[in-house]
Amino acid sequence: MLFHKSARSLIALFGFMLCLAGAAQAEQAKLRNVTILATGGTIAGTGATSTTTVGYTAATVGVQSLIKAVPELADVANVTGEQVFQIASESMTNAHWLTLAKRVNALLAQPNVDGIVITHGTDTLEETAYFLDLVVKSRKPVVLVGSMRPSTAMSADGPINLYNAVQVAASQDAVGKGVLVVLNDQIHAAREVTKTNTTTPDTFKTTELGMLGYVQGNRVAFYRASLRKHTVDTEFDVSRLESLPAVDISYTYANVPPTAINAFVAAGDKGLIHAAVGDGSIPAQLKPALVEARKKGMIIVRSSRVGQGIVARNGEANDDELDFVVSDTLNPQKARILLMLALTKTNSTKEIQRMFYTY
Ligand code: DGL
Repeated sequence: MLFHKSARSLIALFGFMLCLAGAAQAEQAKLRNVTILATGGTIAGTGATSTTTVGYTAATVGVQSLIKAVPELADVANVTGEQVFQIASESMTNAHWLTLAKRVNALLAQPNVDGIVITHGTDTLEETAYFLDLVVKSRKPVVLVGSMRPSTAMSADGPINLYNAVQVAASQDAVGKGVLVVLNDQIHAAREVTKTNTTTPDTFKTTELGMLGYVQGNRVAFYRASLRKHTVDTEFDVSRLESLPAVDISYTYANVPPTAINAFVAAGDKGLIHAAVGDGSIPAQLKPALVEARKKGMIIVRSSRVGQGIVARNGEANDDELDFVVSDTLNPQKARILLMLALTKTNSTKEIQRMFYTY
C-alpha cells in the first residue's frame, strides 16, 4: 500500500516537473533570437584593480565570457555569441567594416535570427554604426553597444549596457529604425550620435537632433525615429566589395598649411573631407590646394569640426563654381563614410550631393 502511495506521488512529481519543463520551453520559444557579435573594446576590457577606469587593456574578454557575466540575458532573448574580431576600436579599418557588414547581412538573412547586438570599442563606435546603417540589408534590429569602464571596474557599465542592447535588439519596436546605439539607458540613431566625452559613461549624445528613446528597466521606449534613409532603403551594397575607395580627412585650424591636402592627393585618394572651421570655411592658404585636388578628379566635401548644424551649400564657398559637395549635418568622420560608399556608385558631384541630402 505504502509502495503504491509513494509510486503515485513520484509519478505526480514527475508529471509536474514535465509540465514545468514544458512551460519553460514554451517561454523560451516565445523569446526572440539575438546574436551577439563581439569585436573588442573596453566592454571586453580588463584592468589591474576595481578602481582602474583608465589605463586598462581593451579587447581581452571573449564573447562567451561577456554573455556568462550577464545571466539575465536569458530572460529577455535566446542569445548566441560570435567573436568576429578582438580589437581596440581605434584600430578599426575599412577591411574590418566589410567583414562585419557581410557577417551581419548573412546572419539577418537567416529566419532564425531576429536581431543582432555588436559589442564594440567606443572610440569609433559611431563610425561603424553609421557604416552599417548604410549597408545592412534588413529591417531587423542591429544595435551597437560599448562601455566606458572595463569589465573589472567597480560599477562597470558594460553588463547593464549589454543587457539593454539585447532588450532593444529583441524589441519589435526597434524593427525598421535603422542601426541603433545603446549605452547609458539611451537609444540613439547611428547617423547623429557621437562620442562627446573621453571617459564618462554618458559620453554618447545626439546633441541637437535628439536621441530616439530610453531603456528603463525592462521597458524599451521609443519617442522618435530618424527621417533619413537607411538599411534596406539605401543604394549601397557591399556584398561584392573587397575594399573601399580611399577617402581621408584634412583637419582645419588657424594657420593650417596645405601639407595634409597635398599628401592625400599624392597618395591617390579618390575623395577628401575638408573638416573645416565654422560653416565649412576655406582658409585662403588652402584654396589653391583644394582647387588643384578637384582638378585632379578628387571629390571634395566641405564638412565642419564644429560638430552640430548644417554646412550650407554655396555659403562660405561657391560650391557650384568649385564643383565641391557639402556634408549637410554629417560630422567629418561620418561624411568620410558616406563619401566612400558614394564613390562605389558614382563620381558625379551632383549625384553625391543628392546622397548627402538623402542619407
Ligand atoms: N580603446 C578604446 C576603444 O576600444 C577604448 C574605449 C572604449 O571602448 O570605451 O574604443
